[in-house]
Amino acid sequence: MKYAGGVDVGSTQTKAVIIDKKKKIVGRCLIDTGGDVTRAAENAFSQALMDEGIDRSEVGYVVGTGYGRYKVTFGDRQVTEISCHGRGAAHMFPGTRTVLDMGGQDTKAIKVLPSGEIQDFCMNDKCAAGTGRFLGAAAKALDIPLSELGEIALKSGKPVRISTTCTVFAEAEVLSWLGKGKKVEDILWGVHQSIAARSFGLLVRVGINDEITFTGGVAKNVGMIKAMEDKLRRKLNVSDDSHFMGALGAALFALDSIISEETSGRVTGKEREIA
Ligand SMILES: Nc1ncnc2c1ncn2[C@@H]1O[C@H](COP(=O)(O)OP(=O)(O)OP(=O)(O)O)[C@@H](O)[C@H]1O
Ligand SMILES: [Mg+2]
Repeated sequence: MKYAGGVDVGSTQTKAVIIDKKKKIVGRCLIDTGGDVTRAAENAFSQALMDEGIDRSEVGYVVGTGYGRYKVTFGDRQVTEISCHGRGAAHMFPGTRTVLDMGGQDTKAIKVLPSGEIQDFCMNDKCAAGTGRFLGAAAKALDIPLSELGEIALKSGKPVRISTTCTVFAEAEVLSWLGKGKKVEDILWGVHQSIAARSFGLLVRVGINDEITFTGGVAKNVGMIKAMEDKLRRKLNVSDDSHFMGALGAALFALDSIISEETSGRVTGKEREIA
Protein backbone atom coordinates (compact mmCIF):
# COMPACT_ATOMS: atom_id res chain seq x y z
CA MET A 1 0.00 0.00 0.00
CA LYS A 2 1.45 3.32 -1.06
CA TYR A 3 -0.87 5.81 0.59
CA ALA A 4 -2.97 6.67 3.67
CA GLY A 5 -6.04 8.94 3.75
CA GLY A 6 -7.67 11.33 6.22
CA VAL A 7 -11.11 12.90 5.82
CA ASP A 8 -12.18 15.70 8.18
CA VAL A 9 -15.91 16.27 7.84
CA GLY A 10 -16.39 19.60 9.60
CA SER A 11 -19.69 21.30 10.35
CA THR A 12 -18.91 23.81 7.59
CA GLN A 13 -16.24 22.39 5.30
CA THR A 14 -14.96 18.91 4.47
CA LYS A 15 -11.25 18.35 3.97
CA ALA A 16 -9.53 15.26 2.54
CA VAL A 17 -5.79 14.57 2.55
CA ILE A 18 -3.76 11.73 1.01
CA ILE A 19 -0.21 11.15 2.30
CA ASP A 20 2.56 8.85 1.13
CA LYS A 21 4.69 6.66 3.38
CA LYS A 22 7.14 9.51 3.95
CA LYS A 23 4.23 11.47 5.52
CA LYS A 24 4.23 13.93 2.64
CA ILE A 25 0.88 15.35 1.49
CA VAL A 26 0.36 14.16 -2.10
CA GLY A 27 -3.31 15.08 -2.53
CA ARG A 28 -5.88 17.31 -0.89
CA CYS A 29 -9.42 18.55 -1.45
CA LEU A 30 -11.64 21.10 0.29
CA ILE A 31 -15.39 21.41 -0.27
CA ASP A 32 -18.41 22.78 1.61
CA THR A 33 -20.04 20.09 3.78
CA GLY A 34 -23.61 21.13 2.92
CA GLY A 35 -26.65 19.07 3.87
CA ASP A 36 -25.49 15.64 2.69
CA VAL A 37 -22.61 14.80 5.00
CA THR A 38 -21.94 11.28 3.63
CA ARG A 39 -21.75 12.62 0.12
CA ALA A 40 -19.42 15.46 1.14
CA ALA A 41 -17.00 12.92 2.63
CA GLU A 42 -17.13 10.74 -0.51
CA ASN A 43 -16.76 13.70 -2.87
CA ALA A 44 -13.82 15.25 -1.04
CA PHE A 45 -11.97 11.92 -0.86
CA SER A 46 -12.57 10.90 -4.48
CA GLN A 47 -11.66 14.39 -5.72
CA ALA A 48 -8.35 14.28 -3.80
CA LEU A 49 -7.60 10.88 -5.42
CA MET A 50 -8.67 11.96 -8.87
CA ASP A 51 -6.66 15.19 -8.91
CA GLU A 52 -3.48 13.21 -8.36
CA GLY A 53 -4.43 10.17 -10.46
CA ILE A 54 -4.29 7.86 -7.42
CA ASP A 55 -6.35 4.67 -7.52
CA ARG A 56 -8.53 3.95 -4.46
CA SER A 57 -6.89 0.50 -4.15
CA GLU A 58 -3.52 2.19 -3.51
CA VAL A 59 -4.86 3.75 -0.26
CA GLY A 60 -4.39 1.18 2.49
CA TYR A 61 -6.29 2.82 5.33
CA VAL A 62 -8.61 5.82 5.78
CA VAL A 63 -9.41 7.61 9.06
CA GLY A 64 -12.48 9.83 9.39
CA THR A 65 -12.59 12.79 11.78
CA GLY A 66 -14.62 15.93 12.46
CA TYR A 67 -18.22 16.23 13.55
CA GLY A 68 -19.34 14.04 10.62
CA ARG A 69 -16.67 11.35 11.11
CA TYR A 70 -19.22 8.54 11.48
CA LYS A 71 -20.52 9.45 8.03
CA VAL A 72 -17.19 8.56 6.45
CA THR A 73 -18.75 5.22 5.56
CA PHE A 74 -15.76 4.10 3.46
CA GLY A 75 -13.36 4.87 6.34
CA ASP A 76 -11.64 2.17 8.40
CA ARG A 77 -11.69 4.01 11.73
CA GLN A 78 -12.79 7.26 13.37
CA VAL A 79 -10.64 9.52 15.53
CA THR A 80 -11.82 12.72 17.27
CA GLU A 81 -10.89 16.02 15.69
CA ILE A 82 -9.12 17.08 18.90
CA SER A 83 -6.65 14.19 18.49
CA CYS A 84 -6.31 14.79 14.75
CA HIS A 85 -5.63 18.53 15.00
CA GLY A 86 -3.10 17.84 17.76
CA ARG A 87 -1.36 15.17 15.72
CA GLY A 88 -1.35 17.19 12.49
CA ALA A 89 -0.07 20.35 14.20
CA ALA A 90 2.70 18.51 16.07
CA HIS A 91 3.78 16.87 12.82
CA MET A 92 3.89 20.09 10.83
CA PHE A 93 5.40 22.19 13.65
CA PRO A 94 7.26 19.80 15.97
CA GLY A 95 7.63 22.49 18.66
CA THR A 96 3.83 22.73 19.06
CA ARG A 97 2.61 22.59 22.66
CA THR A 98 -0.73 24.37 22.21
CA VAL A 99 -3.11 24.23 19.26
CA LEU A 100 -5.82 26.76 18.48
CA ASP A 101 -8.36 25.29 16.05
CA MET A 102 -10.89 27.83 14.79
CA GLY A 103 -13.51 26.24 12.59
CA GLY A 104 -16.91 27.16 11.27
CA GLN A 105 -18.82 26.24 14.42
CA ASP A 106 -16.31 25.51 17.18
CA THR A 107 -13.10 26.94 18.55
CA LYS A 108 -10.85 24.59 20.47
CA ALA A 109 -7.73 25.15 22.54
CA ILE A 110 -5.69 21.95 22.76
CA LYS A 111 -2.62 21.21 24.87
CA VAL A 112 -0.33 18.62 23.31
CA LEU A 113 2.67 16.62 24.47
CA PRO A 114 5.82 16.70 22.31
CA SER A 115 4.59 13.43 20.73
CA GLY A 116 1.40 15.18 19.59
CA GLU A 117 -0.69 13.27 22.15
CA ILE A 118 -3.46 15.28 23.79
CA GLN A 119 -2.89 16.42 27.35
CA ASP A 120 -5.97 18.61 27.75
CA PHE A 121 -8.44 20.62 25.71
CA CYS A 122 -11.13 23.22 26.06
CA MET A 123 -13.78 24.43 23.63
CA ASN A 124 -16.50 27.03 23.25
CA ASP A 125 -19.75 25.73 24.71
CA LYS A 126 -22.86 25.97 22.61
CA CYS A 127 -22.05 29.56 21.71
CA ALA A 128 -20.48 30.31 18.32
CA ALA A 129 -19.44 33.88 19.21
CA GLY A 130 -15.71 33.14 19.04
CA THR A 131 -15.81 31.07 15.85
CA GLY A 132 -15.93 31.37 12.08
CA ARG A 133 -19.70 31.71 12.30
CA PHE A 134 -19.37 35.08 14.00
CA LEU A 135 -17.12 36.21 11.13
CA GLY A 136 -19.65 34.78 8.69
CA ALA A 137 -22.44 36.83 10.26
CA ALA A 138 -20.35 40.02 9.98
CA ALA A 139 -19.43 39.19 6.36
CA LYS A 140 -23.09 38.69 5.53
CA ALA A 141 -24.15 41.95 7.17
CA LEU A 142 -21.49 43.90 5.28
CA ASP A 143 -21.85 41.88 2.06
CA ILE A 144 -18.11 41.14 1.91
CA PRO A 145 -16.64 37.74 0.90
CA LEU A 146 -15.19 35.85 3.90
CA SER A 147 -11.82 35.64 2.20
CA GLU A 148 -11.51 39.46 2.16
CA LEU A 149 -12.57 40.20 5.76
CA GLY A 150 -9.09 39.97 7.27
CA GLU A 151 -7.34 42.21 4.71
CA ILE A 152 -10.00 44.90 5.15
CA ALA A 153 -9.88 44.70 8.97
CA LEU A 154 -6.11 45.27 8.91
CA LYS A 155 -6.66 48.74 7.41
CA SER A 156 -8.41 49.87 10.60
CA GLY A 157 -7.04 52.78 12.60
CA LYS A 158 -9.76 52.96 15.25
CA PRO A 159 -11.60 49.71 15.95
CA VAL A 160 -15.11 49.81 17.37
CA ARG A 161 -15.78 47.81 20.50
CA ILE A 162 -18.17 44.97 19.69
CA SER A 163 -20.32 44.34 22.73
CA THR A 164 -22.57 41.51 21.62
CA THR A 165 -21.57 38.09 22.82
CA CYS A 166 -24.03 36.30 20.60
CA THR A 167 -23.72 35.45 16.90
CA VAL A 168 -27.47 35.93 16.48
CA PHE A 169 -27.08 39.63 17.37
CA ALA A 170 -23.73 40.15 15.59
CA GLU A 171 -25.37 41.10 12.32
CA ALA A 172 -27.61 43.66 14.03
CA GLU A 173 -24.69 45.23 15.90
CA VAL A 174 -22.56 45.46 12.77
CA LEU A 175 -25.42 47.18 10.94
CA SER A 176 -26.02 49.54 13.84
CA TRP A 177 -22.34 50.67 13.82
CA LEU A 178 -22.58 51.13 10.07
CA GLY A 179 -25.68 53.31 10.62
CA LYS A 180 -23.70 55.39 13.12
CA GLY A 181 -21.18 56.17 10.35
CA LYS A 182 -18.35 53.90 11.48
CA LYS A 183 -15.93 52.69 8.81
CA VAL A 184 -16.25 49.10 7.60
CA GLU A 185 -12.60 48.36 8.46
CA ASP A 186 -13.05 49.65 12.02
CA ILE A 187 -16.16 47.52 12.55
CA LEU A 188 -14.40 44.47 11.14
CA TRP A 189 -11.27 44.93 13.23
CA GLY A 190 -13.55 45.20 16.27
CA VAL A 191 -15.17 41.89 15.29
CA HIS A 192 -11.75 40.23 14.92
CA GLN A 193 -10.61 41.60 18.29
CA SER A 194 -13.75 40.35 19.99
CA ILE A 195 -13.22 36.82 18.60
CA ALA A 196 -9.53 36.97 19.57
CA ALA A 197 -10.47 37.91 23.16
CA ARG A 198 -12.81 34.89 23.43
CA SER A 199 -10.26 32.51 21.94
CA PHE A 200 -7.58 33.91 24.25
CA GLY A 201 -9.86 32.99 27.18
CA LEU A 202 -9.97 29.38 25.96
CA LEU A 203 -6.18 29.28 25.58
CA VAL A 204 -5.71 30.62 29.11
CA ARG A 205 -8.04 27.92 30.45
CA VAL A 206 -6.01 25.17 28.81
CA GLY A 207 -2.66 26.85 29.59
CA ILE A 208 -0.56 28.70 27.05
CA ASN A 209 2.69 26.96 26.27
CA ASP A 210 5.11 27.72 23.47
CA GLU A 211 4.71 27.07 20.53
CA ILE A 212 1.13 27.81 19.54
CA THR A 213 -0.07 26.43 16.20
CA PHE A 214 -3.16 27.94 14.58
CA THR A 215 -5.34 25.44 12.65
CA GLY A 216 -8.77 25.38 10.99
CA GLY A 217 -10.27 27.49 8.23
CA VAL A 218 -10.12 30.73 10.19
CA ALA A 219 -6.31 30.45 10.12
CA LYS A 220 -6.67 31.53 6.47
CA ASN A 221 -7.80 34.92 7.70
CA VAL A 222 -4.80 37.28 7.98
CA GLY A 223 -6.79 39.63 10.23
CA MET A 224 -7.49 36.82 12.69
CA ILE A 225 -3.82 35.81 12.77
CA LYS A 226 -2.85 39.43 13.58
CA ALA A 227 -5.61 39.87 16.18
CA MET A 228 -4.54 36.65 17.95
CA GLU A 229 -0.85 37.55 17.78
CA ASP A 230 -1.58 41.02 19.24
CA LYS A 231 -3.59 39.48 22.08
CA LEU A 232 -1.01 36.76 22.80
CA ARG A 233 1.98 39.05 22.22
CA ARG A 234 3.72 36.30 20.33
CA LYS A 235 3.84 34.76 16.88
CA LEU A 236 1.69 31.80 15.92
CA ASN A 237 2.70 28.88 13.72
CA VAL A 238 0.54 29.09 10.60
CA SER A 239 0.95 27.08 7.41
CA ASP A 240 -0.75 27.16 4.01
CA ASP A 241 -2.08 23.75 5.04
CA SER A 242 -3.50 24.93 8.41
CA HIS A 243 -7.03 24.33 7.14
CA PHE A 244 -6.07 20.69 6.42
CA MET A 245 -4.43 20.01 9.79
CA GLY A 246 -7.25 17.77 11.11
CA ALA A 247 -7.35 15.77 7.87
CA LEU A 248 -3.55 15.50 7.94
CA GLY A 249 -3.66 14.21 11.53
CA ALA A 250 -6.29 11.66 10.47
CA ALA A 251 -4.08 10.53 7.56
CA LEU A 252 -1.12 10.15 9.96
CA PHE A 253 -3.24 7.91 12.23
CA ALA A 254 -4.20 5.94 9.12
CA LEU A 255 -0.52 5.54 8.21
CA ASP A 256 0.20 4.23 11.75
CA SER A 257 -2.37 1.50 11.13
CA ILE A 258 -0.86 0.56 7.75
CA ILE A 259 2.62 0.37 9.29
CA SER A 260 1.47 -1.66 12.29
CA GLU A 261 -0.48 -4.06 10.04
CA GLU A 262 2.57 -4.50 7.82
CA THR A 263 4.85 -4.98 10.82
CA SER A 264 2.59 -7.53 12.48
CA GLY A 265 2.25 -9.26 9.10
CA ARG A 266 6.02 -9.50 8.91
CA VAL A 267 6.24 -10.86 12.47
CA THR A 268 3.62 -13.48 11.68
CA GLY A 269 5.61 -14.40 8.58
CA LYS A 270 8.77 -14.81 10.64
CA GLU A 271 6.95 -16.85 13.25
CA ARG A 272 5.70 -19.12 10.49
CA GLU A 273 9.27 -19.48 9.19
CA ILE A 274 10.53 -20.41 12.68
CA ALA A 275 7.71 -22.87 13.13
N1 LIG B 1 -10.23 31.66 2.51
C1 LIG B 1 -10.73 31.92 3.71
N2 LIG B 1 -10.54 33.12 4.28
C2 LIG B 1 -11.04 33.39 5.50
N3 LIG B 1 -11.75 32.53 6.23
C3 LIG B 1 -11.97 31.32 5.72
C4 LIG B 1 -11.48 30.95 4.44
N4 LIG B 1 -11.85 29.67 4.19
C5 LIG B 1 -12.55 29.28 5.27
N5 LIG B 1 -12.63 30.26 6.20
C6 LIG B 1 -13.27 30.21 7.51
O1 LIG B 1 -13.14 28.88 7.99
C7 LIG B 1 -14.39 28.36 8.43
C8 LIG B 1 -14.41 26.88 8.17
O2 LIG B 1 -13.31 26.31 8.85
P1 LIG B 1 -13.17 24.75 9.06
O3 LIG B 1 -13.24 24.04 7.77
O4 LIG B 1 -11.95 24.53 9.89
O5 LIG B 1 -14.48 24.48 9.90
P2 LIG B 1 -15.19 23.09 10.19
O6 LIG B 1 -14.14 22.06 10.46
O7 LIG B 1 -16.16 22.80 9.11
O8 LIG B 1 -15.99 23.47 11.49
P3 LIG B 1 -15.96 22.84 12.96
O9 LIG B 1 -14.54 22.37 13.23
O10 LIG B 1 -16.36 23.97 13.83
O11 LIG B 1 -16.94 21.70 12.91
C9 LIG B 1 -15.41 29.14 7.62
O12 LIG B 1 -16.61 29.21 8.33
C10 LIG B 1 -14.76 30.48 7.46
O13 LIG B 1 -15.07 31.29 8.58
MG1 LIG C 1 -13.10 21.41 12.16
